[in-house]
Amino acid sequence: MTLDDFSSYARQRVDQYLQLKMSEYAPAEGLQEAMVYSLFNGGKRVRPMLTYASASLFGQANALTDACAAAIESIHAYSLIHDDLPAMDDDDLRRGKPTCHIQFNEATAILAGDALQTFAFELLSQTEHQQSATQLRLIKELCLASGRHGMVTGQMIDLANVGVDVSLATLEQMHQHKTGALIRASVRMGAISSDTELKEDQLQALDTYANAIGLAFQVQDDIIDITSDTQTLGKTQFSDADANKPTYPKLLGLDGAQELAKALHKQAVTAISPFGEAAQPLVELANYIIGRNH
Ligand code: IPE
Ligand code: IPE
Ligand code: MG
Ligand code: MG
Ligand code: MG
Repeated sequence: MTLDDFSSYARQRVDQYLQLKMSEYAPAEGLQEAMVYSLFNGGKRVRPMLTYASASLFGQANALTDACAAAIESIHAYSLIHDDLPAMDDDDLRRGKPTCHIQFNEATAILAGDALQTFAFELLSQTEHQQSATQLRLIKELCLASGRHGMVTGQMIDLANVGVDVSLATLEQMHQHKTGALIRASVRMGAISSDTELKEDQLQALDTYANAIGLAFQVQDDIIDITSDTQTLGKTQFSDADANKPTYPKLLGLDGAQELAKALHKQAVTAISPFGEAAQPLVELANYIIGRNH
């Protein structure tokens, strides 16, 4: 399958699942509207793609894989709504459209983020899956990746270091938490959802891939903040420099950051080579992640 075919398969599958689950209950009108706006306003769906690609190493994706992909995307959408708020990055543009708090208002955006966060765990805990041990394991994975052990801590490090000359170690810790953790979970949860007996060396290989590609994703995000224009990005160009954020290009220079992204890509692809042909979607996604311009 080409990357285009694989990404439209994954996108279609996760979108359909999200639509179905969102339609099962209608919360207050403004809340539903803001949640739908932020879930369906043109995200690339990279995390769900990683989940399906990782699941495909162990057979066919199943309904629990769909729940994982949708849950991770929901956490991601919430993280972006809050990331854009005036108290955080204060951004007006996301995916070429007004950010959630601009389109609606700040209170609605905060609540939509809150509701998307719990929606993720609602999806993973549905009794219809009847795989409670696996479901509990998945819930734990997503908790660790998104909360105080993961994304939220990364966001705190980010905000605490505005205007600060951070060390490379701090920057790596920040990136691994704020973006790497959820990407790593996307890969791990896809494998876990397959409900096959995962061998320690298989999980280790996937972890090495996921850690490297998770960090590379944010390195590339920092790079394209400089190299892509606002229209291409769908976000405001130079927003990191304007907000005095610590970034890889700031610490290593643009060339240094690009070299690092390449090295991480190589590390990721090497790690999953034992899976052979079956790892092709993961390899293509790694290529995409460091080649993307938006
Ligand atoms: C942007 O993530 C925020 C980061 C974690 C770097 P994406 O680039 O995956 O955003 P969308 O969902 O495609 O808009
Ligand atoms: C955000 O990082 C990571 C999140 C956890 C949301 P950025 O602040 O760099 O993401 P963008 O550039 O606004 O998408
Ligand atoms: Mg931010
Ligand atoms: Mg931001
Ligand atoms: Mg950014």
